[in-house]
Amino acid sequence: MSTDHHAGLEDIEVLESSICEINQKGLSFRGFSVVDLAAGAGFEEVVYLLWNDALPSAQELREFTAAIRGEYKLPREIIEHINHVPREAHPMAVLRTLISSLGLYDPEAADMSPQAQRGKAIRLIAKMPLIVAAIARHRNAKAHVEADPELSLAANFLYCLSGTKPGAATARLFETSLILYAEHELNASTFAARTTAATQADTYSCIVSAISTLQGNLHGGANQRAIEMLLTIGKPDAVDEYLTDRLKKKEIIMGFGHRVYKDGDPRVPILRELCAGLAEQKKEKNIFETAVLLEKEMLKRKKLHANVDYYSGLAFYLLGLSADIFTCIFAIARNAGYLAHIAEQYTQNKLIRPRGVYTGKQNLKYLPIEKR
Ligand SMILES: CC(C)(COP(=O)(O)OP(=O)(O)OC[C@H]1O[C@@H](n2cnc3c(N)ncnc32)[C@H](O)[C@@H]1OP(=O)(O)O)[C@@H](O)C(=O)NCCC(=O)NCCS
Repeated sequence: MSTDHHAGLEDIEVLESSICEINQKGLSFRGFSVVDLAAGAGFEEVVYLLWNDALPSAQELREFTAAIRGEYKLPREIIEHINHVPREAHPMAVLRTLISSLGLYDPEAADMSPQAQRGKAIRLIAKMPLIVAAIARHRNAKAHVEADPELSLAANFLYCLSGTKPGAATARLFETSLILYAEHELNASTFAARTTAATQADTYSCIVSAISTLQGNLHGGANQRAIEMLLTIGKPDAVDEYLTDRLKKKEIIMGFGHRVYKDGDPRVPILRELCAGLAEQKKEKNIFETAVLLEKEMLKRKKLHANVDYYSGLAFYLLGLSADIFTCIFAIARNAGYLAHIAEQYTQNKLIRPRGVYTGKQNLKYLPIEKR
């Protein structure tokens, strides 16, 4: 076998997809620029677009939204399960477990018909935010809050999390970050979902694969790590010493670098601007200025740009959310993309099974244990 292999599958095109395009002009979902979607669309509208390859009419969006809100409830067993998990367990580990559990209570879990797949997708998109909110409340020994079907997915999540309905501006800022996170081609967790789908495994199994893959620090786990780092640095004056020290030790700086974007992540300017406004409003200019300075220094010293996790972590912090659920919020948003990719994989399937380059010993002679 050739030794000319592609570590990390870098730059390898493995399948055709009509969901997301990343090119010189930026990032687009089904042909629409993410910048335009973030400015004008609602999250449910983006989910519809990703799943249907077209923007909805007003009537279609009403029906789609109603179908999602119709699933704004969790099986009693799931709430009980959450109430019994260790409070100190990381929310991503609990989410991974609970999505697997949720599949046990879905009578259509193993039904691979397009109609059943559709129903499962609606249930997963509606219920994942409820699960994350319930996990967060359980962690803080707070009682479960029932969803409000009058609220959008973004507003309802914030409501179920805090027990207080968010203002329109807050809900919209949060929704914007969900849209920016909703889809991103063959990132590691989406690829994991597609690899699982390609074996003809059911949708819940695919989403469990995706969440398990998202959890790591080099992928979705980075938004939590990035804000923790900014809080540790604490002030702009401390950036120089922090960075010099970490780079000397050859440590990875969370929220920087990207496998695909080597000249900057198109989602960053939108999130940076959103953070600037929030920081002003919340009188948190110190942390924002720390973030901007670190970004400048990373570019100067390492030629590395900030990525989506850097500023989304800051945005969620400025919205008053707790860092331990930041990666779960990423999962809530990316669930839209996962479900689009799973559906596409099922309809144009080819088992995903690459080869490895063997570097181990060869031709050894087996000796029975008493002769070794
Ligand atoms: C995202 C990431 C995994 C991409 O990895 P990749 O495409 O394999 O890129 P590489 O790891 O080959 O990086 C190229 C070089 O830049 C360095 N580098 C990349 N990201 C870095 C970071 N965040 N901090 C410090 N150095 C970094 C690497 O050490 C490597 O240096 P070398 O050539 O001297 O060995 C990587 O940039 C990273 O670990 N970032 C931090 C985690 C993060 O923010 N993840 C979220 C991504 S959206």
